[in-house]
Amino acid sequence: MIFAGMRLVKGFKVSALVALAVPALLALTAITTLADSSPARTALPGDPTRGATLYGQNCATCHGVNLEGGIGAVLNPIDKLPGVANPLDPDFLISIITNGRQPQPGDPKSIAMPAKGGNANLTGQDIKDLAAYIIQQNQNPGGAPLSANELAKRTMLWVGIGIVGMVFITYLLAQYNMRWIARRAAARHR
Ligand code: HEC
Repeated sequence: MIFAGMRLVKGFKVSALVALAVPALLALTAITTLADSSPARTALPGDPTRGATLYGQNCATCHGVNLEGGIGAVLNPIDKLPGVANPLDPDFLISIITNGRQPQPGDPKSIAMPAKGGNANLTGQDIKDLAAYIIQQNQNPGGAPLSANELAKRTMLWVGIGIVGMVFITYLLAQYNMRWIARRAAARHR
């Protein structure tokens, strides 16, 4: 009797451990994948709030009020121009805003980006703030709706995690149930 009691306690401990470990693992997986899926964070080169104001005044006519593009390239998620390794590199952004860009073969747009968006009065600080605003918008997953592709990927991931978790829980319940049935049967035999 004491022996059976001990076995029960031991069994309970193991299943409790597994029952805790499974959600813990799921949570860990979720956290790491979410952390992975947000673009790498770079320090902002300026003040994004000031940048937002300057953007509305100087850039929105070509790049769209929500950076969705138009006459100009899409700025969120930012178009990758050929030959540009990382379009969110602050140095690249500061340089293209300062100097503009002549359209090159393979570019999404066939017209030029004017230097300083055509406003010669923009200061160096203004340009840093604009770059900060563009980077911040690209890094903020809550700020812009997910692309259909990204949404599908995340949905698949979560459905997969859910199925694995449910299979595990079903397995645990089945194990417990079998033990319970065995105990009942043993009691009846006595
Ligand atoms: C007259 C329209 C126009 C205005 C105004 C304008 N742009 Fe552009 N911008 C463009 C075009 C067109 C391109 C794409 C050039 C190319 O394909 O070579 C571009 C490209 C860019 C890029 C590179 C995008 C990428 O995918 O790497 C950035 C960054 C950018 N613009 C920022 C700005 C900012 C900030 C302002 C405001 C200060 C601004 N632009 C104002 C037309 C404009």
